[in-house]
Amino acid sequence: MFLEVKDLSVDLGEFKLKNINFSIDKGEYLVLIGPTGSGKSVLLETIIGFYTEDKGDILFKGKSIKNLAPEKRNIGIVYQDNVLFPNMNVYDNIAYGLKNKGFTNDEIKLKIDEISKILKIDHILNRSVDTLSGGEAQRTALARALIVEPEIILMDEPFSALDVSTQETLTNLIKQIGLKLNTTFIHVTHNFNDIWNLADKVGVMENGVIHQINTVSEVFSKPENEFVAKFVGIGNVFDGIIEKSDTNCVKVKISDNLALYSSDYEKCSIVHNGEKVTIAIRPENIIFSNECFKSSARNRLKGKVIKTEELGPIVNVHTEIDNVIFKGILTRNSYESLAIEKGKDIFLIFKSLNVKMIDSYTSFKS
Ligand SMILES: Nc1ncnc2c1ncn2[C@@H]1O[C@H](COP(=O)(O)OP(=O)(O)OP(=O)(O)O)[C@@H](O)[C@H]1O
Ligand SMILES: [Mg+2]
Repeated sequence: MFLEVKDLSVDLGEFKLKNINFSIDKGEYLVLIGPTGSGKSVLLETIIGFYTEDKGDILFKGKSIKNLAPEKRNIGIVYQDNVLFPNMNVYDNIAYGLKNKGFTNDEIKLKIDEISKILKIDHILNRSVDTLSGGEAQRTALARALIVEPEIILMDEPFSALDVSTQETLTNLIKQIGLKLNTTFIHVTHNFNDIWNLADKVGVMENGVIHQINTVSEVFSKPENEFVAKFVGIGNVFDGIIEKSDTNCVKVKISDNLALYSSDYEKCSIVHNGEKVTIAIRPENIIFSNECFKSSARNRLKGKVIKTEELGPIVNVHTEIDNVIFKGILTRNSYESLAIEKGKDIFLIFKSLNVKMIDSYTSFKS
């Protein structure tokens, strides 16, 4: 394994990173998400060596790096607001790390030519860094981090201060660079687009722990607990009791007169009648229809629209069935053609396969 973080704990007094475990392969792109104050930045800064671990280890290609000084770890870091060296131009800022490594001026020039073309800053190499726009400064910071060819690049909300179109451009550049140089990234963000566009794996943090870290599809389709389910935007998370179970499909009672079918195979075989479970349904997996059409989807329920939220091309639709609120998403076209409005009766149709049984968040809170 390329990078392994093992049972890592860091004590900063009021805040603690607790028992962090994950590993990434060379060239993999890990995105870390979580609410503010959950410890994302502290984790990055521990990996780079600014904080000392109380317990656990960080292994790089199988060897512990925890006693190495930050500059010896061959890890680059890019922040939201990078401090460039103010009295130098763009070229000298980028060259700085290479000079320290003993490269000749000709070698440095070649390398800077290449990276500045990729990052589209070749036209501003002679500019003083005080004159740069946010996007240009961020590209310069990226160039400075990338040029020394670190084995891992850590990025702490690198694009969050930039406008959306610059964010997109830089995201595309990062993707190209990652593919070209096979760089390994750990990227902290609050922007879910970074997950869709960049991530191989995603980790979800809260209060100093990583609740789940896995491939994007695994985390989004099989959230391990209620916190992850809610945080990654699964709008429908319900507590229920197993009413009837066989190894392929279970019926989960979530209110007095409402039970849903779930055929989450891995879980079906291990739960029992009468047991408490938490289930999750992604809003986009609910189909809305004016008729209760026949289909293979086992869950076909009649609800009442209680709220709609128009968000440009999509519309969030909240419906109520036996005092339970279901959240769905429709395109504006479907919303209009179904003539959805508050108070309307509508059918909700979804597959038992899309009703996931997840672990209850309460067991993770300690
Ligand atoms: N040097 C420090 N000493 C003590 N506590 C710290 C230190 N640095 C950070 N903290 C605390 O650790 C917690 C986690 O901080 P961190 O900066 O890692 O959060 P974050 O997940 O990056 O949040 P955000 O999304 O707002 O950037 C916070 O409560 C913060 O106040
Ligand atoms: Mg942070």
